[in-house]
Amino acid sequence: MKKNKNIILAITGASGTAYGKRLFDYLRGEGYEIHLLISAQGEQILKAEADISLDYFQREGVVRYDNQNLNARVASGLFPCAGMAIVPASMGVIGRIASGTSSDLITRAADVALKEKSRLVLVPRETPVHRIHLRNMLALAEAGACILPASPGFYHRPRKVEDLVDFVVARILKMLDIENDLVPPWEPSTD
Ligand SMILES: Cc1cc2nc3c(=O)[nH]c(=O)nc-3n(C[C@H](O)[C@H](O)[C@H](O)COP(=O)(O)O)c2cc1C
Repeated sequence: MKKNKNIILAITGASGTAYGKRLFDYLRGEGYEIHLLISAQGEQILKAEADISLDYFQREGVVRYDNQNLNARVASGLFPCAGMAIVPASMGVIGRIASGTSSDLITRAADVALKEKSRLVLVPRETPVHRIHLRNMLALAEAGACILPASPGFYHRPRKVEDLVDFVVARILKMLDIENDLVPPWEPSTD
């Protein structure tokens, strides 16, 4: 059967927009059709920490939606899609999805992913976290989401920031069932 190449990618207003951009670039390179959602605060933070404007995402194979447009295709359970990732996911959006508000397109598409039991990967970036954050993440994990904190490992001996970003993006891709070789596999020493 032909693999579905539609991926919903949302970028929200947490620090770590570099993870979302790297995932975007990788998916494009692999020929995925990206259905892109960027919250107003995500747009601000992309600009503030990476000097990236929305123009960057205007590419062939990318459909960008207005986050307030609840009539978009990705708001429907009938939209055929291989998965959705929110990278980075603010604690605000995590809280809204956990409470089922579906008040904008990002929270509605995530709600649809949960009810349709399709892949939903959430990449929070906040520290420290309090009980409400933890409760919201637990509720989402119990509902079927994958909580994948933006928390890179160091055992691949990163030399630059991009290596740390790739570590996290490799894990997101794996959870979306997309094979990749962004990070060499861990080879335990035998001595
Ligand atoms: C510069 C800046 C950095 C922020 N970083 C984070 C963060 O790392 N994690 C987080 O959960 N919220 C962070 N916030 C707060 C969110 O942007 C805020 O909760 C916002 O309402 C999220 O909106 P959204 O979920 O619609 O994107 C940050 C805000 C600013 C201005």
